[in-house]
Amino acid sequence: MFAQTFGSTTLGINGVLIHVEVDITNGIPAFDIVGLPDAAVRESRERVRAAIKNSGFEFPPRRITINLAPAELKKDSSGLDLPIAVGILAASGQIDAELVQKYLLISELSLEGKLRGITGLLPMAINALQHDLSNLIISPDNANEALLVDGLNVYAPATLTELVLFLKGQCDLNKLEKNPLTEPDSVINEDFADVQGQFAAKRALEIAAAGGHNVLMVGPPGSGKTMLARRINSILPTMSNQEALEITKIYSIAGLLCHSSGLVRTRPFRSPHHTISDAGMIGGGRIPRPGEVTLSHNGVLFLDELPEFSKAALEVLRQPLEDGQVTISRVNASLSYPAKLMLIASMNPCPCGFLTDSSNQCVCSINEVRRYTKKISGPLLDRIDLHIHVPRLEYNELTGNAVAESSAVIRQRVEAARLVQRERLQRYGLFCNAQMSHKTVKNTCPLTASAQSLLKQAFAKMNLSARSYDRIIKVGRTIADLNQSDTITEIHIAEAIKLRNNIHNVF
Ligand SMILES: Nc1ncnc2c1ncn2[C@@H]1O[C@H](COP(=O)(O)OP(=O)(O)OP(=O)(O)O)[C@@H](O)[C@H]1O
Ligand SMILES: [Mg+2]
Repeated sequence: MFAQTFGSTTLGINGVLIHVEVDITNGIPAFDIVGLPDAAVRESRERVRAAIKNSGFEFPPRRITINLAPAELKKDSSGLDLPIAVGILAASGQIDAELVQKYLLISELSLEGKLRGITGLLPMAINALQHDLSNLIISPDNANEALLVDGLNVYAPATLTELVLFLKGQCDLNKLEKNPLTEPDSVINEDFADVQGQFAAKRALEIAAAGGHNVLMVGPPGSGKTMLARRINSILPTMSNQEALEITKIYSIAGLLCHSSGLVRTRPFRSPHHTISDAGMIGGGRIPRPGEVTLSHNGVLFLDELPEFSKAALEVLRQPLEDGQVTISRVNASLSYPAKLMLIASMNPCPCGFLTDSSNQCVCSINEVRRYTKKISGPLLDRIDLHIHVPRLEYNELTGNAVAESSAVIRQRVEAARLVQRERLQRYGLFCNAQMSHKTVKNTCPLTASAQSLLKQAFAKMNLSARSYDRIIKVGRTIADLNQSDTITEIHIAEAIKLRNNIHNVF
């Protein structure tokens, strides 16, 4: 006897529909799963067998073959437990085989027969709609994620028994309703008002936030680099619904969504430890998982003490910083994860930390300094638009009564600049200036004649690469946007060049 059910798995950050075909024939009792199941799915045999028996149904003592189609795709979701179990019950005549095809079934099963939550449900639910499957059966643990997708009928039985009774028409399951209170407002406690002085650094971070540019902060110990970086989220613009949905999908796959939350509304701020491996940074592994660059998508990746990171972990950043995505090759497929992030890095200029300090004498030899800064390769530096020097604060600045500008005020200016960008870049499918390609830069960044000649001089004097040339114009575009100016003038370009060349004495 034969039955078919629908399940789902993920590929990259997208859901993929899986046809679960169940065939039961007479013969020596066996239970095989074919169609590239990985360890998690192979183990589902044991869970499904126990769940069916412990729920009081019959596990047919015959030859059971499960085929997961499409066969060439590796399946790594324990969420296939449920469609396999329901398929067996349907193929053995315990429930209606035609009725079960109206549902997309996604849940892990406990040995006892309870439905358990899985990671990656959101992209699977989004994908269901694309296949005209609007009835979804999931575990109550995943309810909030499934309800983020409009147009689905979501049912969340607690146990396999409850589900079977529902499919037989012997009990009613309530369709889940959206809870309007599932999206809490984000609260950010850290504020730029806490940071005394450091006006140049704050201005640079404002420009970075406004255009989504990458930043490197260099300065002596205790000058406030980490403190400044940790406050960047308080001035970043609010996310559009599309941006929020993208990051929620990623968090769903990474298993970082807490059960109570709805859409992720705060931009990610990831601050990995410097012992992180290259795989941890870009993702991958035997069971592919998004790395830090993907978890910071639409937000900030903060690398504190940059030279302490391994060379390998830093070099793998080059592709995502350029393309806004990472591609990972696996045996059976190559995966792409989005990675449109803003990199913020901080470091001391030398091992003792005082190379750029006016009052403390640096005790490092030239070789020691070279060895220290060598880790940060030219190509990586080239991808960082703003190089900021963060000096040690003077006593008066630190103890003065001057009230620093609050994050809310800075954020208003950032939001205004982003609005201009969004309107200009909408037709290219981009959100901010940093994401512009060479062609978009050409089309959207008109320079005045004097700005052009200034850039020409800088190009020759600073030996700029073609990439830096574009990046300077992009930063100039953002500065012009902050000034609500349509054209990019000499003043804007001059500030962009200065911000790129601030710490040339260190490297
Ligand atoms: N501009 C500032 N205003 C107020 N407090 C400051 C400022 N700069 C530094 N501090 C104080 O000094 C502490 C250390 O600063 P922070 O950790 O940001 O330094 P850092 O530049 O990251 O140093 P390191 O190079 O050693 O990592 C902060 O927690 C804060 O209390
Ligand atoms: Mg620090």
